Amino acid sequence: MKSSIKHQGEIRGNAIRKRLDKVVGLGQRTYTPSELAVDRAKGCNIYTVDGKRLIDFTSGVLVANLGHAHAGFEKRCKQYTAALPRNAYNMVTAIEAEAAERVIKSLSYPRAQKLLWAASGSEGIQKAMWAALHRHPDRPIMVATRGGFHGKKGLAGDVTGDKSVNRNVKFISFPMKDVKPKAFYQAELDELAKKYADRIALLITEPYLGAKGSFHPPKWYHKMLQRWCRKHDIAFIFDEVQACHGRTGNMYAFESYGVEPDLVVLGKGLGNGEPAAAAVGRADLVDALHYGEASDTFSGNPRACAAVCATFDVFKSERVVANCQRMAPIMLEGLLALKDRFSFVKDIRGEGLVYGVEIADPGTANRCVLEAYRGNGKAGVHFLGPLAEKVLRVSPPLIITEKEVANAFGIIEKTWARI
Ligand SMILES: Cc1ncc(COP(=O)(O)O)c(C=O)c1O
Repeated sequence: MKSSIKHQGEIRGNAIRKRLDKVVGLGQRTYTPSELAVDRAKGCNIYTVDGKRLIDFTSGVLVANLGHAHAGFEKRCKQYTAALPRNAYNMVTAIEAEAAERVIKSLSYPRAQKLLWAASGSEGIQKAMWAALHRHPDRPIMVATRGGFHGKKGLAGDVTGDKSVNRNVKFISFPMKDVKPKAFYQAELDELAKKYADRIALLITEPYLGAKGSFHPPKWYHKMLQRWCRKHDIAFIFDEVQACHGRTGNMYAFESYGVEPDLVVLGKGLGNGEPAAAAVGRADLVDALHYGEASDTFSGNPRACAAVCATFDVFKSERVVANCQRMAPIMLEGLLALKDRFSFVKDIRGEGLVYGVEIADPGTANRCVLEAYRGNGKAGVHFLGPLAEKVLRVSPPLIITEKEVANAFGIIEKTWARI
């Protein structure tokens, strides 16, 4: 299978796409109508090989919270690793200890005691789930919230979506557009507890349904799940792979939703682009896994750990979470103005600096991505391909300024007027 993406006048970009088509499988890419060919990136700007500048409304995929090529971050990364090897399998390093201590300290609640590193979000999810399953080998049942995205691999894939090939996975409802009364969700939980008494090991959920199209639940929802888990001694696993490190306006989304999970899974923004993820939480769960049961080649390597520390440094020195809080209402105002102006914008959902912009239909949603990319002459705005077919994800680096947001909306308004 080949991609048909080509853009008029992009001599260099089209040549790269053509080369990749020959040697890399299409399955490697997530469909994005623009598929921009990047030359370099700095701060909130991405420059294409054909000389266009795009304001990044994606942060990679919610990864580069500090923006691209952040000088302070890069410098600190180098300082932390100095002469260390890139891989320290079967070795230990001080930087790993420091990174783990800082992650645990940053969560700052009693259940955050120990962690397992991973090299991707789905691996972190898998390790969290293994920990809960190993803690209670007599409990095979896993409860997950319907419509979630936890990754494509292994157990993370099993608890993703609406149905599972794994017969031990049972889904419960997550509040989406029509939020039902509390009693509805409670009844689902109670029915499961009755049917699978003492056989449920874990409940896994996301703070908000990201990939499903940005559905952010009422504050009582996660508290209800946590209460139920505590009552039945079920491990409450919170998937913050996407939401961690400031996205929702707090350092962690569990703070935004007022819960203290048994295990929190961190990814994406944890290393600001370096492959770092972690499952963090109760020591009795983490310690249910013995030598080798959660080890692999890349997890917790020195550079990933250095990136974790450097990310914390910059979050502190530049008060990144405070900037996110300051920019959140400005971003929301801009998005609501788009809704007023364009009849094809149907809904805006989100918090902090993570929003979903629901467009009337998939064709128009793709067109929105493309027109913003084509931009005005030399400048455009970069969006991910639509989620759930017609929801645009807006998730710029958390260091974005008011001026950059205004510039981006200026471009979007002009370019979407062509639709
Ligand atoms: C909430 C959530 N969980 C898990 C994952 C999987 O992470 P990865 O792609 O790093 O395996 C993602 C990735 O988008 C995610 O958004």
